[in-house]
Amino acid sequence: MLSEQTRTIVKSTAPVLAEHGKTITTVFYSNMFEAHPELLNIFNQANQKQGRQQTALANTVYAAAVHIDNLEAILPAVVQIANKHVSLGVKAEHYPIVGEYLLKAIKEVLGDAATDEVINAWAEAYGVIADVFISIENGMYEKSETQENGWSFFKDFTIARKVKESENITSFYLKPADGKNVPSYDAGQYITVRLAIPGEEFLFNRQYSLSQASRPDEFRISVKREADNDPNGMVSVYLHEQMNEGDRIEVSAPAGEFVLDTKRDTPVAFVSGGVGITPMMSMFETVATQTPERPVSFLHAARNETLHAFDKDVQKYVATMDNAKYKTLYSDEPQGYITRDILEDMVDASGEVYVCGPVPFMEKMISELRALGMPDEQIHYEFFGPAVALQSV
Ligand code: HEM
Repeated sequence: MLSEQTRTIVKSTAPVLAEHGKTITTVFYSNMFEAHPELLNIFNQANQKQGRQQTALANTVYAAAVHIDNLEAILPAVVQIANKHVSLGVKAEHYPIVGEYLLKAIKEVLGDAATDEVINAWAEAYGVIADVFISIENGMYEKSETQENGWSFFKDFTIARKVKESENITSFYLKPADGKNVPSYDAGQYITVRLAIPGEEFLFNRQYSLSQASRPDEFRISVKREADNDPNGMVSVYLHEQMNEGDRIEVSAPAGEFVLDTKRDTPVAFVSGGVGITPMMSMFETVATQTPERPVSFLHAARNETLHAFDKDVQKYVATMDNAKYKTLYSDEPQGYITRDILEDMVDASGEVYVCGPVPFMEKMISELRALGMPDEQIHYEFFGPAVALQSV
């Protein structure tokens, strides 16, 4: 329990820290990786190499500090981050390292303003916040380990099949190398794949949504090949060009909170842009096979036909359901965008909608759905990559 004085100091200095967020984060990461280069096996190196600021971590610490009296208030955010951490194999022993370098960075940037009293208060607050994460993450690891065919951290898988879905999306069917089955998962969850790329010093981790309904013997991910010169595309290019059937790959257990609520029978709509179609495929297939009578619509935006994945699969399921609608728009064509009118026609505002795609696409879809009167609790969405603070949503 933090003392009244500690709470007051933390709450009154949180805005100052947030104001210097970018500088503190830069100092924090650069010092931490210098002292602990092994952490580059966990963190996304493309972000670091590009100098792209990962302010999310530090900002969350400040936001949590503001709510230090009532951490329950930020629990949903903590659970979402904890899913990501667990998928990446973050361990309890990493927290003191992050804490140490975050506090050192605060001290370095704030200089004299960071008195011992201020630093001690933050050290205490960080300890409380870290304990919340650690306890939630331990619970998740335990659940993962005790689930049938489950495991925690990483496990060896074999690429059983590699199937081209469009000009730039290829599916990888993954089976455990020990011949066991995989655990069941919720439609919409993701896994992390971990790769050693020849010539690269550290391991690479990337999250990919599972792109088919839960099956006992395999996972499927569907990867978009990014451009050769995109530092964030290294893993996708390596997977597309170098990884083939029979190759080994490390995989973490399914995680994530952006999942289909299978208990409902209300209308459900899936709205995706580009490779955002992947979690939608898992959700759509789950509805088609488990509750085919549920009213469902599938709305997708692709650049053109050659980049449009899974068209035949969606059509195949639509044909087996009484209440299914399907529409695709190609943005290379005139009037090829999903408009409010199209959403009104395809999405039943009394039901649930799941949205996934690039950030501008999501922002547009969410604001149009709201304009159509859909309440926020019925609009579910997930962004690619690091959680982005969406100002306009
Ligand atoms: C991602 C917060 C501790 C490793 C994140 C994100 C947040 C966050 C907000 C972005 C989530 C997203 O992208 O959806 C925190 C807080 C911490 C903490 C508040 C302490 C209380 C740690 C520790 C580690 C760690 C101890 C391991 C050393 C990562 C990694 C990512 C991440 C690897 C993915 C982003 C990337 O690869 O650059 N964390 N984190 N975090 N966190 Fe943490």
